[in-house]
Amino acid sequence: MPDRSTSIHTIHVCITCRNAGDAEDAGERPGARLYRALREAATRRDAPVELIPVECLSVCKRPCTIGFSGAGKWTYVYGDFAADEVSANAILDAAALYAATPDGLIPWRLRPDALKKGVVARIPPLTRRPIAELPEAAE
Ligand code: FES
Repeated sequence: MPDRSTSIHTIHVCITCRNAGDAEDAGERPGARLYRALREAATRRDAPVELIPVECLSVCKRPCTIGFSGAGKWTYVYGDFAADEVSANAILDAAALYAATPDGLIPWRLRPDALKKGVVARIPPLTRRPIAELPEAAE
């Protein structure tokens, strides 16, 4: 039984991602195939992960796309994944690292290569700090 106290909270997977030039009716989309590969790999590994399919993460030019998020942690959006088991395992490897961090910041040297190349955005965690404690805006 995995330690749920360190589980990644969520991997959102865009199931509508498709490759440039794919026809609308080209069959199962690569994003949906990646989601399926992730589900299968997570089950095989008994990975402590919550997979949530979503329709579009607004990174359509870099299919397939995913996002890591968790309470109190930085959110990361990644693209450029193939819809296969290799990508699924790299994502789950990174998810385990993400889950083990207190803030979601995975040290660069520990990231699987696919996540070094594929980072699209990182978004700070929500905060309830009073405005007075927020850093000054850069001018
Ligand atoms: S369709 Fe996948 S990010 Fe837009």
